[in-house]
Order: sequence, then structure tokens, then C-alpha cells
Amino acid sequence: MTTPTLSQRGQTMPMSAMRKLSPAAQAAQARGVEVIRLNLGQPDIETPAEFWNAVRAFPEREPTLAYAPSAGRPELVRSLVRYYRDAGIALAPEELVVTVGGCEAILFALLACGDPGGEIITPEPYYSNYAGVAAIAGMTLAPVTTHGEDGYHLPGREAFEAVITPKTRALLYASPGNPTGAVYTRAELALLGDLARDHGLFLLADEVYREFTYDGATAASVLHLPGLDDHAVLLDSVSKRYSACGARIGCIASHNAGFMQAVLKLAMVRLSAPALAQAGIAACIDTPPGYMETARAEYQRRRDLVVERLNAMEGVSCRKPAGAFYVMARMEGIDAEDFARWLLSDFEVDGQTVMVAPGAGFYATPGLGRDEIRLAYVLELEKLARAMTLLAAAVARYRREQR
Ligand SMILES: Cc1ncc(COP(=O)(O)O)c(C=O)c1O
Repeated sequence: MTTPTLSQRGQTMPMSAMRKLSPAAQAAQARGVEVIRLNLGQPDIETPAEFWNAVRAFPEREPTLAYAPSAGRPELVRSLVRYYRDAGIALAPEELVVTVGGCEAILFALLACGDPGGEIITPEPYYSNYAGVAAIAGMTLAPVTTHGEDGYHLPGREAFEAVITPKTRALLYASPGNPTGAVYTRAELALLGDLARDHGLFLLADEVYREFTYDGATAASVLHLPGLDDHAVLLDSVSKRYSACGARIGCIASHNAGFMQAVLKLAMVRLSAPALAQAGIAACIDTPPGYMETARAEYQRRRDLVVERLNAMEGVSCRKPAGAFYVMARMEGIDAEDFARWLLSDFEVDGQTVMVAPGAGFYATPGLGRDEIRLAYVLELEKLARAMTLLAAAVARYRREQR
């Protein structure tokens, strides 16, 4: 008997930085410990009533749950076109394909813009799944490091040109960013646009946190930039906008017809995104504007609490993010991976502990992020306050035990 061999991809793919400690969290729960999860961008805000009403009404209109068109149900495409028009982005229906969440939009983008061996330039720290998606596509990430001290804003043109090679296919960025919270200025977006144009690259913009900016910051879209029709690709999701992570609906949009044709062929292979969820999300266009403003204000309060409490902890520091709902915190002298595991295996106060994401998984450069953790401030204030109290106690105890 000969054992079959696993693919290189299957063996070497990185594990999601957000989910790799899930078995340890389950073990803690099995011991009766309540785990307050700050590891994942899974908000506790309620999904709009418009979504649930449309889902409930579905069987009366359509008693058979059929496939949707591969590009998306027409009513969802119409509502997305309207949503973007209101955001100052003019898109024709055929310039948009509905995807299974933002992650499939990222996957389709990489598969359509490059082949195995291709390179994607991305500022680090980045959304950890970029590494996994690149691995699926057989591509590699070429990181350009950004720093907390600069608010994770972009370095100059030279830093990008230093990593451009003949294999480079695209620039990929998120603004507002996960895990950085950075909201790039128009000048930064213009720099990326110039690089894309000058070097014949796609510019892939992950804008899933568009609505979540604080202290008056606003996030410009890649599709607001002039003269980039062949280069600019918008990657989006309703997971965060409508607090509907489980709907698994996103989209990909570009004025580049050839690119969208390739994306449509990819979409046809997986038949369609979930039809029922598409019907629900199509109705969310009618969510009253107050829904978004309430959510945004709530995240800003959560951010303020978490940033203040983190900076009060011994040897812990972080910047106030301008957008999204994450914070990267540096923990001087602490091995973040060991600390995050220890929180789940050896620490509890009154039957509770906290789950965080170790920072290294958000970087491609070896060694970076080892003393950083990423927190998602997606839980109600009272829970967050409790989590911060637990984390402060954990940092003090971990240091005392000098692991
Ligand atoms: C920057 C960024 N892009 C994409 C996604 C994926 O979103 P989705 O749940 O729609 O796949 C996330 C999720 O956390 C994210 O943070």
C-alpha cells in the first residue's frame, strides 16, 4: 500500500492567523472557560431587518431555491449599482460580479490577473487571508512594510519600485485597512495609481470597510481615481457593511471589460453565490441611513475604549486607528504567539479568558509581528471592557511568570 502524497500547496499553505488558535479555544470552552473572542472581525451588531424580511418573503415568490445567475441576481446587481452610484462610483451592471464574500472577490481578482509564479505587491501588515488566497492561486506576496509610528501610511514610490519585478502582476491594498485601521489619503491612492499605470499592473482595492471611518476621515475609492479604467479593480463585501458575515456575499467590479469577462468565467465554474442571501442583501439597499451611522458611532466608542485600555497596560502600545475595527498592539518583550496560546491554555479569571490573533500572520517578512497582537473591537462596550480587564491581568501575570 502506498500513501498518496499531498500537494505542495496543501502542505505549505499558511493557516489563517485569525482562526489557527480555534482548537485551543474549543478546548478552553470544553473545560468550562468562557472565551471572549477578539480574534475575528465578526461584529455583534444586528443585521438589518430589511435582510430578514426579504429572506422570510422569499419562499412565497420562489418556492424552489434555484441557482442564481453566475454574475448575481438581477435585483442585487441593481441595488449594488445604486449603492455605488450614491457613493459617487458609476458602474454599469455588466461591470460587476457578485461573489461569495469579499474573500472570493480577492481570489477571483488574483486568478484573473496572474498565473502561478506571479507576484502581488501588498503593504504589510495585511489582511492575513491575502497570504492564503495567494497560495491558492500559486502566487507570492511581495510585501512593502508599513509602520505603526507612521499610522501605517504608505512609504514613498521607491519602496514599491524596489519590489517590482517582471513577475509582478498587481498591487493589492485595503483602505480602511485590516489590521492597521489606516485610511489612505487621495495622494497615497494616486501614488498607487501612478505605479499601476507606469508598470502595467492591476490595482486591486479591498474596500470592505468603506463605511467605517472615524474622527471625520473619509475613504476614497479606487474607482474615484481618474484614468485607471484598465487597472482599477474594486473588491467589496457586505459582511461588515450590513453586519452579515454569514450571508457570504461580496462583489468585484472594474471598468476593464476583459478582466470582468475573465472573472465571469471563474464565477460560472462555481455556478452562483448563495441565492437566498442575495435576495436578502438586495433589500438592504433600503436600510435607513441611521443604521450605518449608529454602527459607525458605536465602533468609534469601542475603538476609544480599547485604545485607551491597551495603552494603559504595562509595556503595551498602539495607535488610534482611523478606520475599520481592528487594532495592532505591540507588547514589548512578549512572544505574541506564545501569549495568545497561553491565554487559552493556562489563563482565566472567574472562568473567563480572551482570544486574540498573533501578529506574525499579518506579515510576509519573517520576524515581523512577533511582539504584536491584533484585536477586533466588534463586541459591545461592556464585554470589551471586561476583555480589557482580563487582558491587563494576563499581561501582568505573563510577565511575572517570565515565560
Ligand atoms: C480586509 C478584508 N477583506 C476581505 C475580508 C473578507 O470578507 P468576507 O467575509 O466578505 O469574505 C475581510 C474580512 O475580515 C477583510 O478584513
